[in-house]
Amino acid sequence: MSISIKELTPGFVGEVSGIDITQPLTPPQAAELEAGMDRYAVLVYHNQPFTDDQQKAFSLNFGALENTAGGNVTKAAERRLDFQMADVSNLGPDHKPLARDDRRRLFNLGNQLWHSDSSFRAIPAKFSLLSGRIVVDAGGNTEFADMRAAYDALDDRTKAEIEDLVCEHSLIYSRGALGFTELSDEEKQMFKPVRQRLVRTHPVTGRKSLYLSSHIGTIIGWPMPEARAFIRDLTEHAVQSRFTYSHKWKQYDLVMWDNRTTMHRVRRFDETKVRDMRRTTVAGDSVTVQQMAA
Ligand code: OGA
Ligand code: MN
Repeated sequence: MSISIKELTPGFVGEVSGIDITQPLTPPQAAELEAGMDRYAVLVYHNQPFTDDQQKAFSLNFGALENTAGGNVTKAAERRLDFQMADVSNLGPDHKPLARDDRRRLFNLGNQLWHSDSSFRAIPAKFSLLSGRIVVDAGGNTEFADMRAAYDALDDRTKAEIEDLVCEHSLIYSRGALGFTELSDEEKQMFKPVRQRLVRTHPVTGRKSLYLSSHIGTIIGWPMPEARAFIRDLTEHAVQSRFTYSHKWKQYDLVMWDNRTTMHRVRRFDETKVRDMRRTTVAGDSVTVQQMAA
């Protein structure tokens, strides 16, 4: 059987069949999927009942795995999964839904805002791979926005204006937008802002994209309110329905996306139900712009 990719959203989302990705890939298979990622930006696979180790092994075909440390407020002793797995479930280590006022849950609600994974790290993520181990039947869709198409649709004046702009990204900003502002000194230190270009160029295709994320708090050299108003405006443009795809999860779906060219968010669902979602993240290999001196 050979790999085939059916286009779900033109030029943006592909549905892959003809391959069992829970088993080791051959180098040509891995290359074909990587090329699929470059052609689309989101790939969907069905019926892939991963273990964590199988998910990690599949992810390693596309680069080194990112360590999730520094990306949340969950203490090491409270973790349900190891450091190479991002726990995007609503569960504690006892596998039960977190209480409504649990700090970890409130922090994770930030995933309902449009973002690009790890844009708050100096070297941001390449791919994310999200496995639906237990899914909910109402709500909880994950939505994706094509930031290449959004960039292309800007007028020339805006393109020229944003070409060299640099933004500050931090979990402090995205969580602050939801009123989650109580952070320990250690957390504030861990979430120190980093800089990212607002326009990125894909290393393989050469296509430009808008690098937006709810983690943005300002534009370097701009007054903060003006920066935020402009970023909000660009974000509204970028998430119009013509640029987006909504994924309704079936158990054992695996969705992978390119964080360099997309944003995503999860939609609200009944959090008394178990939603066990596990992400591996393929690390990026470079900064998008020089960081400020330490
Ligand atoms: C993520 C994320 C969305 C979801 O895995 O990075 O934002 O559907 N998750 O849980
Ligand atoms: Mn995410």
